[in-house]
Amino acid sequence: MSEELYRLEGVSYVYGEQAALNNVTFSVSRGESLAILGANGSGKSTLLKLLNALIYPTGGSISFMGAVMSGDGFTGNILKCFRERVGSVFSEPDVQLFCPTVFDEVAFGPLQLGLEPHEAAERASELLAMLGISGLKHRAPYTLSTGEKKKVAIASVLAVNPDVLLLDEPTNGLDPRTQVWLFELIESLKGLKKTCIMSTHDLSLVEDLAERALVIDEAHALAADGTSREILMNKDLLLAANIIHEHTHRHGDVVHIHSHGPFAVHDEHD
Ligand SMILES: Nc1ncnc2c1ncn2[C@@H]1O[C@H](COP(=O)(O)OP(=O)(O)OP(=O)(O)O)[C@@H](O)[C@H]1O
Ligand SMILES: [Mg+2]
Repeated sequence: MSEELYRLEGVSYVYGEQAALNNVTFSVSRGESLAILGANGSGKSTLLKLLNALIYPTGGSISFMGAVMSGDGFTGNILKCFRERVGSVFSEPDVQLFCPTVFDEVAFGPLQLGLEPHEAAERASELLAMLGISGLKHRAPYTLSTGEKKKVAIASVLAVNPDVLLLDEPTNGLDPRTQVWLFELIESLKGLKKTCIMSTHDLSLVEDLAERALVIDEAHALAADGTSREILMNKDLLLAANIIHEHTHRHGDVVHIHSHGPFAVHDEHD
């Protein structure tokens, strides 16, 4: 039987008065690759922050490997173990880059894990080379372009070799070669039984990168949980959740309804 990593039961989150997630229940097993889909503001980033223990539910509960994630109990060694196992790349890379140079940034995690400085340096160099950003190693992260920052954020997360990767809009702002590199990386992580949970607006990626998909609707509730294929084929669901759109226009007497999504639907009505 597959090992359960996360269990969410009736999870809600409100920022002050602003609801962001509403009564969400699902589990994630080790080795799964999961895409989170939803319109702007539906709650994807909030869900990833909850899975990353950056915030805790305001309703319901989340556990990671049986340990309840809450502000009270999820501290000390439990939180340290969690941070070693779970790495995340935020959609805005600025918030996770804080070292004076790119090299220090990528070596920081391995040093925190207790690697000798020369081992941490070796690992950082390998990662920088893998991402094709060795040339940036002496630069201050805040001087980089958005895509460069994202590459540094990805390199620094991979440097600690986490079991679970949480990726918020991973391909946003990346050039085509880096996107392909990232797909291949996610594929190879799946082969290594790593768990990968990502949010994306790019439906063309979903079936390649994730076996399973969740849909969060605009009321911040879980509208669907199924295989990526099932979800992508469910046009009504994607339309209702504002993940694809349909516009109607008239050619003479014929009204065309076009859906914009992974499939080319072209219904005609009198
Ligand atoms: N720090 C915050 N303070 C108040 N409200 C917030 C905060 N962060 C997010 N929200 C609100 O919570 C809801 C969910 O936001 P979230 O960022 O999780 O959406 P998202 O699905 O990631 O959207 P996007 O596709 O635009 O990234 C939105 O209504 C948003 O305005
Ligand atoms: Mg978001």
